[in-house]
Amino acid sequence: MAEDSPLDGILPETESDSNCDDAIDWWSILSDKTFLENPYSELRRLQAKGPVHFDRKNGIYFVLGHKAFARVSKSSAMGRDTRNWTGGWNSEDYRQHDPVGYMLFSEFQPQMINSDGEEHKRMRKVYEPAFRAQAMSQLEPLIADQASRLLAAMPDKGEIDFIEAFAAPLPLRVLCELFDIPESLDDTISRWSASLIRIGDILMTPEQKSEAMEALAEFKDFLRQQIKERENNNEDNLMGLAIQAQKNGTLDEEETLTNLVSMLVAGHETTVTLIGNGMLLLLSNPDELARLRSDPGLTRTAIEEFLRMEPGGNMILRVAREDFDVEGVTIPKGAPVIGLIGAINRDPGRFENADVLDIARPANAQFTFGGGAHFCIGAPLARLEAQIAFSRFLEKYPQIELAGEPEWRLDRMNARGLGRLPVKVKAVA
Ligand code: HEM
Repeated sequence: MAEDSPLDGILPETESDSNCDDAIDWWSILSDKTFLENPYSELRRLQAKGPVHFDRKNGIYFVLGHKAFARVSKSSAMGRDTRNWTGGWNSEDYRQHDPVGYMLFSEFQPQMINSDGEEHKRMRKVYEPAFRAQAMSQLEPLIADQASRLLAAMPDKGEIDFIEAFAAPLPLRVLCELFDIPESLDDTISRWSASLIRIGDILMTPEQKSEAMEALAEFKDFLRQQIKERENNNEDNLMGLAIQAQKNGTLDEEETLTNLVSMLVAGHETTVTLIGNGMLLLLSNPDELARLRSDPGLTRTAIEEFLRMEPGGNMILRVAREDFDVEGVTIPKGAPVIGLIGAINRDPGRFENADVLDIARPANAQFTFGGGAHFCIGAPLARLEAQIAFSRFLEKYPQIELAGEPEWRLDRMNARGLGRLPVKVKAVA
């Protein structure tokens, strides 16, 4: 076992030798700061060794090939319910090994992303209406209004941190509007989100687990109170859908609260990274920025290309519900599988000139939103926010250039986003 393995000492020994190279220390690689700063050459090196790997130390299967991940992510044999993970977060072995971690993952368990089959469908259905095309077109003016407010507060000329001034506040404001949560709580929600998003890292320190546990308890208390105060308002928003589902018995209280927490966490930083990483890609590829300016109709395909080239999340989890064969490897029932999206989205077997930004790339089958039954429910919202963000920002500033070194956040394994992006801007005279 790796010294700091999340499952150190609790996994059963396995006989599997298929695609297993013990010289690869997966967790050391994935948490290494140089890797987090720029993972792509290392991912390409690992991908060249094969599309599916077994990490014997941790009992985890890593998928790096596009074709393999398309099968893994979409098959009903591969679920997302962590209760099926042998020796994993929700198991008795794990409880004995790490009681705080066990408590955290149990509290975070009852939600759509952690369930399969009918249970998953029941929960997902509650929120689906909020992300349909009609709901999105109703949201458009609200997002545009938030973008305009932020742009109005920026200088016509000078230097700004694109993340702080625009990419970070826009998705948070939009989400809080969707939940009807006042602006005065933005900092609190951001703090809770930052602690909870680390659950996606899979590898967490004991301090991070305790911090996440505290944030989760505070977040749930806050939402419990909100639901109580607003239960008879018949609100036409995400909170309204949740309240209705709890009232009519579709969701129990824990499911209502955990899904709401997750939605607020999942919908925030991910969209910040899409807007931030996309802007850095454009600034690093001035010809593509000029191409987008001369043909704003390419905004939609440009967003898909940003998602492909710089996915905000690095890992997508599955748990085998039954033995599953993929690319000559048998993944046994109960085993966890992690798709490494940075490799999958740049698989040269699927994408021509995979490392080159092409804002008009046709048939862009990127996997940043996952696949199959768990495909990101918020994808239409994230796409719309990004489209509005780029259109409005480029419209206000005909001149944009990098004004210093961008700073990647290197404190997370499963989130690749910028902490700072200094840019020099000049508005229309
Ligand atoms: C660029 C922004 C976003 C990215 C990259 C992203 C990424 C993902 C990924 C990778 C998954 C798991 C898919 C899988 O396992 O196959 C997911 C699921 C989910 N996302 Fe997003 N997401 C984003 C924005 C949002 C937004 C805006 C919301 C809501 C407001 C949201 C809510 C959710 C929920 C609730 C799930 C669970 C869906 C299910 O299990 O059925 N996400 N997202």
